[in-house]
Amino acid sequence: MSGSGIGDQGSGIGHPGSGTEGRPGSDFDRATEAAEWLRGHGCGGADVAVVLGSGLGDFADHLDESFTLPYAGIPHWPASRVIGHAGKLVGGTLRGKRVLALSGRVHLYEGHPMATVTFAIRVMGRLGVPRVILTNAAGGISPNCSRGALMVIDDHINLMGDNPLVGPNDERFGLRFPDMSHVYSPPLRAMADAAAAEQGVPIQHGVYVAVLGPSYETPAEIRAFRGLGADAVGMSTAPEAIVARHMGIEVLGISCITNPAAGVFPEPLHHEEVMETARQVKGQFIGLLEGIIGRL
Ligand code: HPA
Repeated sequence: MSGSGIGDQGSGIGHPGSGTEGRPGSDFDRATEAAEWLRGHGCGGADVAVVLGSGLGDFADHLDESFTLPYAGIPHWPASRVIGHAGKLVGGTLRGKRVLALSGRVHLYEGHPMATVTFAIRVMGRLGVPRVILTNAAGGISPNCSRGALMVIDDHINLMGDNPLVGPNDERFGLRFPDMSHVYSPPLRAMADAAAAEQGVPIQHGVYVAVLGPSYETPAEIRAFRGLGADAVGMSTAPEAIVARHMGIEVLGISCITNPAAGVFPEPLHHEEVMETARQVKGQFIGLLEGIIGRL
């Protein structure tokens, strides 16, 4: 995920249900319809939804009593075509908690409007899911965010050039000017620390800068982001986090640092490296998520 998610194989535009513009009905109605459909398919009463980033989808295989709902069957749900994104919702239980794992997300760089990029979070909100864990693959900017590190997102800088709340505000979702002082829940971040200690998984904390992509950054951009206070860079998560807070959903963000950001080392960046690192750390990543979810 983009943060992940890189390596787009097509725009995704034109997929039935992928767009929201020029279609009758509101995003609120569409999200409500999808939520009702999911409720009718066993997704009601979830304790947490987990959005799985590029190469991190295996978490979904660790759920007990699991069931799979391909995105294509969910009303209005958009499809992502990025390598490493499966495109399915897996429901199940983990350490006694009810979990919805969203394996695959759509990205702004695919050409989708923000409403489409954040539709899944709108649906989670309408379903009454109280908290989301947003995961992504990201490039490491600060020295403690080396390849393979897991970083709890303390805050983000949105440099995507767009905001999912632009346009008329639907008060049924939330306020026109929602507060963003504590986007990433301090209690959930503390749970991540406790889970990491319990599991023996080293974790970092830092600021995630969200960019549009799909090209990777230039070394000059990374130097600029470092100066702005960013520790990691990726192509997702911030829009979902903003929309989640708009709806009052608690948010935890975890970045898997899959590569040093551009210019940190002389080597060029490849999506294959992103996927390979995600594969290498997935055991720790899954252990961390299990520990966090067990504490909810
Ligand atoms: N930059 C932007 N997005 C990313 C990166 C990166 O270096 N690695 C994984 N997602």
